[in-house]
Amino acid sequence: MKDADEPGPFVKRQKSNFSHSFPAHSSQGSSRGNTFDNLRKAKQALPIFPARRTLINQIRRLASAIVIGETGSGKTTQIPQYLLESEVNKSSMIAITQPRRVAAITVAQRVAQEMGSTVGGIVGYCVRFEDVTAVNTKLKFMTDGMLLREAILDPHLTRYSIVMLDEAHERTIHTDVLFGVVKAAQRHRLKTGQPQLKIVVMSATMDVDHFSKYFNNAPVLYLEGRQFPIQVMHVKEPQSDYLFAALVTLFQIHKEAPAGEDVLIFLTGQEEIDSAVRSILDLSRDLNDFPKLQVYPLYAALPSHEQIKVFNKTLPGHRKVVVATNIAETSITIHGIKYVIDSGMVKAKVYHPLSGLDLLKVVTASRAQVLQRTGRAGREAPGICYRLFTEAQFKAMDVNTVPEIQRCNLASVVLQLMAMGISDVLSFDFMNKPAPESIKAALEELVLLGALERQPDSEMLKLTPVGKKMAAFPLDPRFSKVILLAKDFGCLEEILSIVSILSVDSVLLNSSKKRLQAGQAHEKFKSSEGDHIMLLNIYRAYKNVNGNRNWCYENYIVARNMNTAQQVRRQLREICVRQQLEISSCGRETTTIRRCLAVGFFMNAAELSKDGEFMTLTTRRQVSIHPSSCLFQHKPACVVYTELVKTSKTYMRTLSVVDPDWLMEAAPAYFRRKRASAIT
Ligand code: CDP
Ligand code: MG
Repeated sequence: MKDADEPGPFVKRQKSNFSHSFPAHSSQGSSRGNTFDNLRKAKQALPIFPARRTLINQIRRLASAIVIGETGSGKTTQIPQYLLESEVNKSSMIAITQPRRVAAITVAQRVAQEMGSTVGGIVGYCVRFEDVTAVNTKLKFMTDGMLLREAILDPHLTRYSIVMLDEAHERTIHTDVLFGVVKAAQRHRLKTGQPQLKIVVMSATMDVDHFSKYFNNAPVLYLEGRQFPIQVMHVKEPQSDYLFAALVTLFQIHKEAPAGEDVLIFLTGQEEIDSAVRSILDLSRDLNDFPKLQVYPLYAALPSHEQIKVFNKTLPGHRKVVVATNIAETSITIHGIKYVIDSGMVKAKVYHPLSGLDLLKVVTASRAQVLQRTGRAGREAPGICYRLFTEAQFKAMDVNTVPEIQRCNLASVVLQLMAMGISDVLSFDFMNKPAPESIKAALEELVLLGALERQPDSEMLKLTPVGKKMAAFPLDPRFSKVILLAKDFGCLEEILSIVSILSVDSVLLNSSKKRLQAGQAHEKFKSSEGDHIMLLNIYRAYKNVNGNRNWCYENYIVARNMNTAQQVRRQLREICVRQQLEISSCGRETTTIRRCLAVGFFMNAAELSKDGEFMTLTTRRQVSIHPSSCLFQHKPACVVYTELVKTSKTYMRTLSVVDPDWLMEAAPAYFRRKRASAIT
């Protein structure tokens, strides 16, 4: 790490840019220690409150509405309560979707608290692997993915009178598919004389014309927000290392600004943020003459009780620094922020239909995102936003974020659409159509997995009984397929353990400080057969000690994630029982498990070529074994992997050694075709 005292990236910074006269902010809205009375007062102080009547009347009158209002104005927490209080929902449920799990949970908790109840009553939430609702639930906060799953069983969403699609600008793949699903449900209910389905689309920022047009010219209701002037500073020269630039900028602010003026830094992902937090703490240790720092990371994978800490009051004589992903753009409101430092980068999914690669990559943010980030500095008083990119770079950014549906593997949603009875996916009413090649690639993948089949004498595809079963699992189709296969192979117990661990955040503790000790502790779980068997070994060892926390601690295993994996496993097992899959075990014999993985993941196979590099079988792409794999030092002839990550190279992560014959047996026609096309 370079010294934070080096001249910073902002060449010109006048003192007069700073306003020191603002009182330390209050921490109104912190979810702790609030009495009901205080909460009521806080509710009435929100910018949305004066618009309450108008909003209710408009939404009562309209079939679809679009509500735009600054982050923190009260859209998510207040509008559902308003609609419920004035009975616009006509005693049916109101669904409020969120792109993020953490938002669904924390907002439900907040709303329950404001209504003087607890979650799981009138107010509930439903996220993947966790349903906290009751028969009397009226306000149901849920991830967009969960509402989509419900639509498989009930395409017209008959349990709801109002669906609120929140954070619509995020354009997650699930939100985008939901747009089409709720629109179709609304039309169907109107046509068949059923009770109306109201659609309320909410956002802080978006391309309103596009949305309004899509929802049959839905009127746009603008909320007056509070926004103080913000001074925007660009760097003079492009920065080669935004992380370093962020630290330098932070310490410049820190040395000049009085205590209580808090800083929000936008970076891209967990590892980067954790390491930035460590660097900040290290660097601040010697700065005794300045305010003390309270530094908090914030990203989606962080457990809720850790995330909640960003709402902590800034102590007198302290400064709060929050290092966040784009989660803090709109999903979460943090009080007291006066300075924003924006890397201008974001981690996003990128998909190449031709190579079949679905990768998480750090890319440049869109202008809409950057503007939103800037806005976080001026919520309570005038603020300053430091952009770690030049003005020219800003101008070159895309205006809006490309919807996820146009840049990721569609197999999972295509399967869900088919399961909803929408068989002509290519002509589905998407707000922004995905590339036809992406849809075709997804259909092709589902045919290969046996989820879809061609109808005789026609090009139309239809769902097979296997596909129907696969759609019942809230998993990537390849994992659902492996579960179904495991029943036939007689290793369902083992596959359930492996898939569950793969469905949660890493269970292997890997802090950079203790990397060596962790590596040694993990040694005993390793297997020459690969990472899947290693995960199984961990699961078994964990079961043996009944999830003992001390054992986890000593073995550098993340107890919390193991616990979640166990809950996930329980739920997947329940789905298996409901699907009448016989729950079998292969005992100590692990070859069966790898065979099963090979058959399910034959599209993710790679072989060692003569020059010692790995090539994927399907796309002939050069890949390497990720350093975190227990096969890193090995050179197996053939492997299947569950994930590819791209940094400087393309790495296979989580892999197993397999026999090439197993792959051939799994899909003989497919490999014959691939081989033929490789020769020609
Ligand atoms: O949806 P929007 O961004 O317009 O605002 P909101 O999420 O309804 O939040 C309104 C206010 O409620 C925020 O400014 C916070 O003061 C408070 N809030 C909170 O304290 N804790 C939460 N979990 C959610 C909201
Ligand atoms: Mg909101």
